[in-house]
Amino acid sequence: MEIKNKVIIVTGASGGIGLAAAKLLSEHEANVVLVARSTEKIQKLSEQIPNSFAVTADMRDEIAIRQMISQVHSHYGRIDALVNNAGQGMHVSIENANLDQFRSIFELNVVGVLAAMQAVIPLMCSQTGGGVIVNISSGLTKRIVPTVGPYAATKYALNAISLTARMELAKDNIRVGLVYPSMTQTDFFKNTISREMTHSDRMKMMPMDTAESVAEKIVEAIRTEEAEVYVESLKQGMK
Ligand SMILES: NC(=O)c1ccc[n+]([C@@H]2O[C@H](COP(=O)([O-])OP(=O)(O)OC[C@H]3O[C@@H](n4cnc5c(N)ncnc54)[C@H](OP(=O)(O)O)[C@@H]3O)[C@@H](O)[C@H]2O)c1
Repeated sequence: MEIKNKVIIVTGASGGIGLAAAKLLSEHEANVVLVARSTEKIQKLSEQIPNSFAVTADMRDEIAIRQMISQVHSHYGRIDALVNNAGQGMHVSIENANLDQFRSIFELNVVGVLAAMQAVIPLMCSQTGGGVIVNISSGLTKRIVPTVGPYAATKYALNAISLTARMELAKDNIRVGLVYPSMTQTDFFKNTISREMTHSDRMKMMPMDTAESVAEKIVEAIRTEEAEVYVESLKQGMK
């Protein structure tokens, strides 16, 4: 999909990968919708990012998600692309995983994405040109790593939803794809529910990608409409 002048929603746009993607999409002259819970942050950012619009929503809240999609649709009259980027980690062994915490990250990483997809699908079906949906997965669905099982499980579920939807929605001209980041320098590890590794332990583990390099892959996924787009560091590791 050509990005210029398109209406593109990015969830989790108050920081990290989502913010880098929103900035890059704006540079490519898209109308970008910044979605996150931190109202003040996204409102300030929308004043700095050309052609952007801030909408507060908790992506765990089904009603808030539907309201956000309908607010964007009323504002622009169409939604060309949805980037489901908001997410949280849970890096704990299977044995120690707290079930309420797991339910909570599943709500955000999986149920919230499904709800947002269900809210935009009828709108994309009814407009000329259909639409593009890009869901942000993780390289942890491409290898088994101890202590990240609960988080990886949510992203495996997201992969299944995304690749199935891609087949189901092709007839409606809705192209669904996945982007697989690897370890990226953001607040993700600070925000991760973690019991078995400290933030500084993890930071020492390996070189990290920048949020900007992942944002380039998100732009690539929208442009090429490919099913699966990997960051370069992951591609090299999978060889
Ligand atoms: N960083 C990595 O190493 C890495 C690797 C692989 C995959 N990923 C994936 O990449 C995506 C972005 O991660 P990141 O590294 O940019 O993380 P981050 O720095 O922690 O940013 C997370 C973003 O999501 C938003 N968010 C969190 N909970 C939310 C909720 N309930 N409702 C709405 N927005 C919410 C946050 O904003 P508010 O707090 O303002 O709501 C923030 O904008 C995630 O899906 C993550 O799983 C990251």
